[in-house]
Amino acid sequence: MRGLGWAPVHTIGEVLRGTLAGQHVQLRGWLHRNRASGQIAFPQLRDSTGVIQCVARRDSLSPEQFDAIAKLLPESSLRLQGMVRADPRAPGGFEVAVDGIEVVAAVDPARPFPLRGDEGDEFLLDNRHLWLRSTSMTAALKVRAQVFRAIDDFFAQEGYYEVQSPSFVSGACEGGSTLFKVEYGDEEQKEVYLTQSWQLYAEAMVQGLEHIYTVAPSFRAEKSRTRRHLTEFWHCEAEAAWMGNDGIMEVEERLIFHIVDWCLRTVAPELTALGRDLGTLRQVRLPFPRYRYEEAVELAASKGAEISMGEDFTYAVEKILTGDLTVPIFITHFPTAIKPFYHRPDPADPTHVLCNDLLAPSGYGEIVGAGERCVTLEELLARMQKQGIDPAPYEWYLDLRRYGAVPHAGFGMGIDRVVAWICGADHIKNVVPFPRMMRRVYP
Ligand code: 4AD
Ligand code: MG
Repeated sequence: MRGLGWAPVHTIGEVLRGTLAGQHVQLRGWLHRNRASGQIAFPQLRDSTGVIQCVARRDSLSPEQFDAIAKLLPESSLRLQGMVRADPRAPGGFEVAVDGIEVVAAVDPARPFPLRGDEGDEFLLDNRHLWLRSTSMTAALKVRAQVFRAIDDFFAQEGYYEVQSPSFVSGACEGGSTLFKVEYGDEEQKEVYLTQSWQLYAEAMVQGLEHIYTVAPSFRAEKSRTRRHLTEFWHCEAEAAWMGNDGIMEVEERLIFHIVDWCLRTVAPELTALGRDLGTLRQVRLPFPRYRYEEAVELAASKGAEISMGEDFTYAVEKILTGDLTVPIFITHFPTAIKPFYHRPDPADPTHVLCNDLLAPSGYGEIVGAGERCVTLEELLARMQKQGIDPAPYEWYLDLRRYGAVPHAGFGMGIDRVVAWICGADHIKNVVPFPRMMRRVYP
């Protein structure tokens, strides 16, 4: 078979944009679908930029080339060349009249490519390494890539330093029930866990850098099997010195707005392909409505959710609370008893803390957890004592209150949840390449 060489080629995206009509192109990719009769074949070729319909006639190819393409199974890799023609009947408006093809690697005919998308969740998860090339996964991952870009762009614009913290940690940040214990192998260091949040380290680093952020995995041994829980998720966290709860809320909402706006500008076609209604996304405007905890409980109850005053919002409750909303909302000033030890009690009402959760609309619920931190040693020790936390492993963290502590605040945003909301995905796993859940670590 005639080799087509490894020279730079065109992309399918370029062909679909229309400027190559009437030109001869070389393409490479994977066989998306194939339909053939004795004299003519209609292979569809896919690369990372799109899918194009091709027409291969027996009389335009060598007999070996025509036979190869006619019986080629979907997901085989190949190179082809031919003339681009505008054709209104072709999906995308253009097709390629093939005059040369080279199969790079065929699919094992004993085990044809198994995935159409209707095989069921577990099957698709078992075959994640193959399902990742589906058009829906590819679209979601393109959106995901832009969300990461938007985050970096935002913090660069706001003058934040990016800084990293370790994944092996010696103390809990978000409570013991979701800690992953690690076999660390050091006799001296009995308690080693995977990090739930960079926050405690950020509170140290913020005293040198003042405005910082990170993008990193966090780990939670989540027993809850919901549409929004992973055991390993990507966490965008920020911390700022000289900032309070109101200030950090403004940073959060600007960030969310920036991400949504960025995605509308960069991946609108992918969002549309995923079935996302762009009109609803465009309704995201600043500022986001703010509700105090009690107001939010009443609002949720009025919508039929089961929640009593003093209880935390479960996923089920957040789903009802935000189901009919089109914009994110803040819930602020949670009862002190239901929030982790580091949250600062409101000086005006110490039964509540200066904190906020940001909830995405349309039933997605919490995407950001945030707030102001305890500043004085007394305040912090009192919170730890109340929650029955042994201060010993936190000695270094307590030190931060002994050496020039300043008011500071920060937040953690679940990136996978934000991507799920922006894509309109019905499960968080649909926007993560290899999702990690309690019962899923393969492949
Ligand atoms: O609300 P959380 O637990 O807050 C913290 O970890 C703070 N220490 C953050 C900070 O102030 N620096 O987690 C923050 C966010 C949640 O709002 C949620 O979006 C996401 O992290 N998240 C998860 N995402 C996917 N799967 C899970 N199991 C998650 N747990 C939290
Ligand atoms: Mg939270």
